[in-house]
Amino acid sequence: TQRPLLIQGAMDVETEIMMAALENPEDITLGVWKYTTGTLNGYPVVISRTRIGMVNAAASTTLAIEHFNPVAIINQGTAGGHDPELHKYDIVLGKEVVNMGAFKTDFTEKSEGIHPTTWKPMTLEIVDNQTGEWTEVGSFPADEALLAAANSVKDTHTKGKVVEGTVGSADEWNKEIDRILWLNETLGTSAEEMETAAAAQIAATYDIPFLSIRILSNNEVHKEAYDRTTGEDSQAFTLQVAKAYIDNY
Ligand code: 5AD
Repeated sequence: TQRPLLIQGAMDVETEIMMAALENPEDITLGVWKYTTGTLNGYPVVISRTRIGMVNAAASTTLAIEHFNPVAIINQGTAGGHDPELHKYDIVLGKEVVNMGAFKTDFTEKSEGIHPTTWKPMTLEIVDNQTGEWTEVGSFPADEALLAAANSVKDTHTKGKVVEGTVGSADEWNKEIDRILWLNETLGTSAEEMETAAAAQIAATYDIPFLSIRILSNNEVHKEAYDRTTGEDSQAFTLQVAKAYIDNY
């Protein structure tokens, strides 16, 4: 049997269109997380509603991998802009994904204060499936074939540009411009959201090809306010990527 393509989104506005696009859809619940299985162009696809945040993303990804044994994983949805070059409706293809909440601090004495701009990025543990050895990584690279599939359908997204970049994830919603620009400089983040790095870390541990696709729903740097309908554009673009991946890769 063919291993399905797993496509994730946190909210209804990030999953409903893709679920409706499946042929022969069937709903299934694993733990408390909802999935819809079916086919796209005749190939098995699972749409996963992870719900919001890093822990929900990690748990629902692990369950999906154990249950569906996916051939590849796409995590997609909305995000907030960090890179001043980007605007609302632009799409970032996560050539790199970083956990934006992983920092360690230098020691300071009581009453010496809190100094976020001196915090250092912290590595995370994944296991190498071949050797069983745990290693430390600072980011999660995109799978080349998934990235190529996404680049091949760039032109189908007309509301903004499609660029390769770094997606940063944490259980955070940042609106302080100085912090946003500091994250952009320190971690190289193009955009922020709340799920990708958790899913990417689990995918890396299971050695499953992974890609993040995130549309800017807001960009505080340019005072561009949140637009929930961008979740629909992310799904429409992701369906094009999925079809290209299924047909050509
Ligand atoms: N910061 C954090 N998360 C964001 N999301 C969209 N924009 C942002 C932002 N600026 C996404 C998250 C989460 C939901 C609240 O919206 O990934 O799923």
